[in-house]
Amino acid sequence: MSVPASFREQHARLADELREHDYRYYVLAEPVISDEEYDRRMRDLQDLEQEYPALRSPNSPTQRVGGSVTKDFPTVSHDVPMLSLANTYDEDEVRDFHRRITQELGREEVTYHVELKLDGVALSVRYRDGALVLGATRGDGTQGDDITANVKTIRSIPLRLRDEADPPAYLEARGEVLMYKEDFRRLNEGREERGEKLFANPRNSTAGTLKLQDSSVVAQRNLRAFMYSLPGTIRGVATQHEALEYLRRCGFAVNPHRRVCGSIDEVIAFWREWEDNRDTLPYEIDGVVVKLNDLDEQAELGSVAKSPRWAIAFKFSGRTARTVLKDITFQVGRMGTVTPVAELEPVHLAGSTISRATLHNEDFIREMDLRVGDHVVIEKGGDVIPKVTDVLLGERPEHTTPFHFITSCPECGTELTRPEGEAAWFCENAECPAQVRGRIEHFASRNAMDIEGLGEAVIDVLVSTGLISSYADLYILGNRRKDLESLERFGKKSVDNLLENIEQSKQRPLERVVHAIGVRYVGQSVSRLLAEEFGSLDALARADREDLERIDGIGPRIADSVIAFFQEEHNRGLVTRLMDAGVTHTREERKDNHLPFFEGKTFVLTGSLSTFTRDEARSLIERAGGKVTGSVSKNTDAVIAGAEAGSKLSKARSLGIDIIEEDEFIEHISELRSENGS
Ligand code: IVH
Repeated sequence: MSVPASFREQHARLADELREHDYRYYVLAEPVISDEEYDRRMRDLQDLEQEYPALRSPNSPTQRVGGSVTKDFPTVSHDVPMLSLANTYDEDEVRDFHRRITQELGREEVTYHVELKLDGVALSVRYRDGALVLGATRGDGTQGDDITANVKTIRSIPLRLRDEADPPAYLEARGEVLMYKEDFRRLNEGREERGEKLFANPRNSTAGTLKLQDSSVVAQRNLRAFMYSLPGTIRGVATQHEALEYLRRCGFAVNPHRRVCGSIDEVIAFWREWEDNRDTLPYEIDGVVVKLNDLDEQAELGSVAKSPRWAIAFKFSGRTARTVLKDITFQVGRMGTVTPVAELEPVHLAGSTISRATLHNEDFIREMDLRVGDHVVIEKGGDVIPKVTDVLLGERPEHTTPFHFITSCPECGTELTRPEGEAAWFCENAECPAQVRGRIEHFASRNAMDIEGLGEAVIDVLVSTGLISSYADLYILGNRRKDLESLERFGKKSVDNLLENIEQSKQRPLERVVHAIGVRYVGQSVSRLLAEEFGSLDALARADREDLERIDGIGPRIADSVIAFFQEEHNRGLVTRLMDAGVTHTREERKDNHLPFFEGKTFVLTGSLSTFTRDEARSLIERAGGKVTGSVSKNTDAVIAGAEAGSKLSKARSLGIDIIEEDEFIEHISELRSENGS
């Protein structure tokens, strides 16, 4: 089927737009549209390609979403071996490195390029005629795996090089793939909820993710990449600094924290700065990499065995500390999970003071035989939350006693239960104040309804004063303005702001609402699937097991959880109240989809359309704000006539009603498809 020119143009425009947004978001870190807006455009592009597969190219932005499944990754050879780095933790050895270099080059002074040592997984990407053709792992340095489909989902890696750099016919770039700490935390949180094995740190989860067979799962993991080397020769690029600037012009993300240093003292100062500040970064680093800046000088020194002689990794020392366990307390989550927390003698560790650490669950404590009073080793891993990793049994004080997990909820006193096969103890009292607060906090949180000004502290006050006891109560807070204003620390202005923010949140898209209502195992990505599949809260509430399990990405565990949620009278009541309050509950109700050409008008479809079925055309018109009826009358505003239109067309003519040909209809409706979800 040939693609109508208008759709071809629209495809090109949308693809360009999405490329530009990827670049702005992931490379420049200056997003200009919201995530929802981005997703909507991506869906539009996917829909267009679904309809016209001829539009789907290997480097279309839709490839970002993944989909292809690889059984075995083919092996690829690296033209230039992928080396590793000699490393040290010691300042004196860095000075030795500098002495060696100056000696061998026969120079007094040399210039270094110092970069962060990103704690991820090395990657090589190849481009032909500006288009990404290969993404490969390092493997043994000579041969790696072809993981192209997975690499395409990484949005900081351009599918096409930007023209500004005037890229050569062939280009290879190398860099590091990593996962942000926040994404790692969220990933593990979901895995814990689903009873899956946890990743030890962001690097392991990056490595595991890159080797997944299903690229659409990779796409959801939000991997990032920073490029740091150009193995080939590029005209006009004579230093590492210029190489990175060149990579940036090509559209790659290049880590901004780097410095050209004229002396080894400056190098060491850079290392110190980052040793102190590493925790302020959203990703993990484990040192700095010191590279000779001049590429000719690099070539002159060459490499030995597996590492270059012109570079060294200057690593940070460990992130563990010793302290004393003063107490074990408990936190109750919004789902009732009771988590033990270590209360520690405060200790300084890699830039911050630590006084609490998670202890995961009962088994974790039992396996270590952890006791109050023990000397413990704590470690700051990929998570911001520190962990207790070891007990120093040799230093155990006398008279300690084995620890016993609590048997009743520290918040409401309900007896705890530990379901078979679960590691966690639960408080099953849905009215438990900790759970009530937790559910409201989740509802208002950034990834859910995103209600600014409604954080932990405010929710605490609202719940403890009895002003709210569920998230549905938020939408009737407007009636309690006086009560709100009388609360300590709540001025008129802050009450106004809060109420305004709550009001605004009614407009959040359905997928956020689905996430916000707090169904167990239903996180952001599952919510998106559910919103897309069912289109409304009503339909979701009516879904049965079969409907749910039919969806790719939804297994029995999630299906059961959704059903259990809506079976509960209380939950159904909450959801109904949200709908009554005017919170978005269908995907289509957004009025801003409407197009003036269709809005409020009545159409009749006749004849056969070549690009749409009747049903498709009807739903597009409805989404644009129009109505479709079956027969022509004086109330009809226009008739849309396809091929071989019969009596309805003649009737329309006789009544003097507008007649719209298919081409014209497509032109009008295509505005809807480009601006809004379809
Ligand atoms: S340069 C031959 N620069 O560290 C030069 N590597 O042990 C090797 N790494 O495999 C790469 N950040 O995965 C370079 N700014 C950076 C780096 C970096 C992290 C990793 C890389 C490499 C390993 C070396």
